Amino acid sequence: MTNNTHTANITNATNATNATNAKNVPDAQAGRGTAVVTGASSGIGAIYADRLAARGHDLILVARNGERLREVADRVRRAHGRGVTVVQADLGKRDDLARVEAILRTDPSITVLVNNAGFGGVTPLLESDANRMEQMIDINVTAPTRLTYAAAPAFVGRGGGTIINIASIVAIGVEILNGVYGASKAYVLALTQSLHHELAAKGIRVQAVLPGATATDFWDTAGLAHASLPSGMVMRAEDMVDAALAGLDAGEIVTIPPLQDAGDWTGYEAARQALSQRFGHATPAPRYLAPAAA
Ligand SMILES: NC(=O)c1ccc[n+]([C@@H]2O[C@H](COP(=O)([O-])OP(=O)(O)OC[C@H]3O[C@@H](n4cnc5c(N)ncnc54)[C@H](OP(=O)(O)O)[C@@H]3O)[C@@H](O)[C@H]2O)c1
Repeated sequence: MTNNTHTANITNATNATNATNAKNVPDAQAGRGTAVVTGASSGIGAIYADRLAARGHDLILVARNGERLREVADRVRRAHGRGVTVVQADLGKRDDLARVEAILRTDPSITVLVNNAGFGGVTPLLESDANRMEQMIDINVTAPTRLTYAAAPAFVGRGGGTIINIASIVAIGVEILNGVYGASKAYVLALTQSLHHELAAKGIRVQAVLPGATATDFWDTAGLAHASLPSGMVMRAEDMVDAALAGLDAGEIVTIPPLQDAGDWTGYEAARQALSQRFGHATPAPRYLAPAAA
């Protein structure tokens, strides 16, 4: 960490740089700023923490489970010698979310936000608990929205920054899992595309990542162990994150690691863009007009 103006806001902060390892960080990787990763205590977020530190970023890692966060932080410090701050926060609680928003607004070292924290479900609508669905919207929709609203103006003010939003292939295949989960990820995809539209010219890079089934605790939380899925369709979290970062490096706005033919996405997206230009009519389409009385 290069700046600790937010220290007072941090619970369980363990901000420490492994000085021995720090000497081994090549100069070319130094000074890339701090990356904030939500949901960094396990799975995809923990791999992002490792990979972003390897790229020369200091880290602020956010999740509820402080013990697991500190384990990830220690591992990353040992491996890459970067500064790592742990922020224990429940992004479903307004006060905790506000603490993370304040960090994003006030720490000028932050250059990357990874909105990764989230959970899903596999139950159909009639068997789903409405309160659990609301919690899902809080974590998957409200939290990344508020964190983006905190980060984006700060990034614009500093002339640049990167926002990576972890969506899902269910953003497109909304029928595959629980419907609210699919809808929450469709929101993340749409928000990312509209952020790109508004912020690219201001130096802000945005990327939506759409993982397919990935071998993490996600599936246990959702109530279906990933071991019960066909192994040929479950990706390792390491492979998913490495592919997502390759997509970021390639300048992609939307990265879908398991999609084998990139042309499938570009064709789909071109059709969407073309369709979006065809709505400017004051009169309903003829098929909706009542037939003239005989
Ligand atoms: N695995 C898949 O197949 C898959 C596929 C597509 C998309 N995704 C998306 O990938 C993202 C990461 O999931 P994962 O697969 O890595 O699953 P995971 O291992 O269960 O990780 C989820 C992370 O989110 C954090 N989190 C959950 N609720 C939180 C809360 N209220 N406040 C703060 N942090 C919270 C968890 O930490 P704590 O429990 O410590 O809070 C954990 O670090 C999610 O957005 C998920 O929807 C996953």
